[in-house]
Amino acid sequence: MSAKQAASSKPFLEEGSFPAHVGVIMDGNGRWAVRRGQIRTQGHLEGLKTAKKIVKAASDMGIAYLTLYVFSTENWKRTAEEVGFIMGLVKQYLAAELDFFRRNRIRIRYAGDARGLPPDIAREIREVCDDTRDFSGLQVILALNYGGRDEIVRGIRRLLEALPSGGELTEAAFRQYLDNPDIPDPDLIIRTAGEMRISNFLLWEGAYTEYWVSEKLWPDFTEEDFALAVTRFQGRERRYGGVTG
Ligand code: FPP
Repeated sequence: MSAKQAASSKPFLEEGSFPAHVGVIMDGNGRWAVRRGQIRTQGHLEGLKTAKKIVKAASDMGIAYLTLYVFSTENWKRTAEEVGFIMGLVKQYLAAELDFFRRNRIRIRYAGDARGLPPDIAREIREVCDDTRDFSGLQVILALNYGGRDEIVRGIRRLLEALPSGGELTEAAFRQYLDNPDIPDPDLIIRTAGEMRISNFLLWEGAYTEYWVSEKLWPDFTEEDFALAVTRFQGRERRYGGVTG
């Protein structure tokens, strides 16, 4: 069953329960490679193929926002070779997919601290974000050199700089200092490779997010798995700390 078929088939409920924003923790690339006797970077190469398929599936399903956790503020602890490989993949992905983004009206956005990125990667991201900024289809947010705590601390810094202008500090006011204040909180976060951890992903935004954990390693994750996670999300009741009506 394709994602398109899944989107129009029975288990899908009406518009209202459709997730507007899905986040994905793409875990398990390294294990995928090691299990096959390959080097870890081969897993990232396969992981990129999966990411492309899921972007297409999310676009076809009419999801508004898809945040991909590509590289965390903690991932710099990996070897220079692996870090360099992932950064190279990002650059290659953005350059190679520009036509696809244009054809599908996909807007690319960024979350994280771009100042910590290699300058050529930061430039490529900025250019693709600029090139696609008027597209009204799926918005893909690349979380790169991203950490939920880091995002909050950077937000507090900006808030302190703005303090002389006054105003009451509320949750809604603070939200304006996060990386993408106009993007709604994620409705659903999918994590692959069976880990039950949040790993510093969208800490503020994920306060009431529903989670879906797949046992599959990211390179093995398919459009059908993505559609299943969305379908199951639609069957859940979200109470936001309240009680059942
Ligand atoms: C986690 O697997 C994956 C990453 C840290 C890198 C994710 C990168 C990609 C999927 C490719 C780039 C994608 C885009 C959209 C540009 P892991 O290495 O932590 O796996 P492990 O836990 O099995 O070691």
